[in-house]
Amino acid sequence: MSVACIVVAAGRGERLGEGCPKAFVEIGGRPLVWHALRAASGAARVTHVVVVAPDGLEGDPALAGAVAVVRGGATRQHSVANGLAALPGDTEVVLVHDAARCLAPPELFDAVAAGVLSGHDAVIPGLPVVDTLKVVDAAGRVTATPDRAELRAVQTPQGFRRDVLERAHAAAVERGDTDAPDDAALVERIGLPVHVVAGHPDAFKVTRPQDLLLAESVLARRAASV
Ligand code: CTP
Ligand code: MG
Repeated sequence: MSVACIVVAAGRGERLGEGCPKAFVEIGGRPLVWHALRAASGAARVTHVVVVAPDGLEGDPALAGAVAVVRGGATRQHSVANGLAALPGDTEVVLVHDAARCLAPPELFDAVAAGVLSGHDAVIPGLPVVDTLKVVDAAGRVTATPDRAELRAVQTPQGFRRDVLERAHAAAVERGDTDAPDDAALVERIGLPVHVVAGHPDAFKVTRPQDLLLAESVLARRAASV
């Protein structure tokens, strides 16, 4: 079975505020997307990687090794759809990964792919939630406190049977949905089961400036342990 990975790297990185697309901000002297591409390519089960890049950066040397580089869209959902359209024809399983989760290890890609290959339509990594979460209404009033034991903070790579993810995206277009929070949400909307496997602490998303410090410290820890 051919497993391809779409790395979405076309966001603007507004919360990071570095003034360049987030995927091209560097840690350890290399762009985040370089690290993400390397991890995806390093997974034993991944055969091809497609990168979705910001306008004008499609030819950047950090993207060398991708089987295809395509342009991003206005939302993450559109960017994933552009990546889906560029998958090699024989792809049967597709992983979708945020370049911003640049330090997710190859083993996580393999674990997610293995879940799909073993028969699940959709597999996502998740970790227990540390904070207590509240549901709050527009007036700032708490309306519920969900049981933390039932909650997971989910990550990428998320893995799907290719036909399932294509159907889920097509259904979103038909409904007029343009900005899904993640790909699994689109699969949930067409009524198919999504299976959660153990996430990885290194698969956090670089979102705010402090996350760059954490990423640098993970790289330092890895360098010290080889
Ligand atoms: N992404 C994308 N195309 C978009 C928006 C997001 O490819 N139109 C990608 C980002 O590059 C990132 C991933 O989706 O790897 C997760 O998005 P997020 O963390 O929100 O990144 P940004 O949108 O770049 O950041 P911000 O929301 O702070 O602007
Ligand atoms: Mg965003």
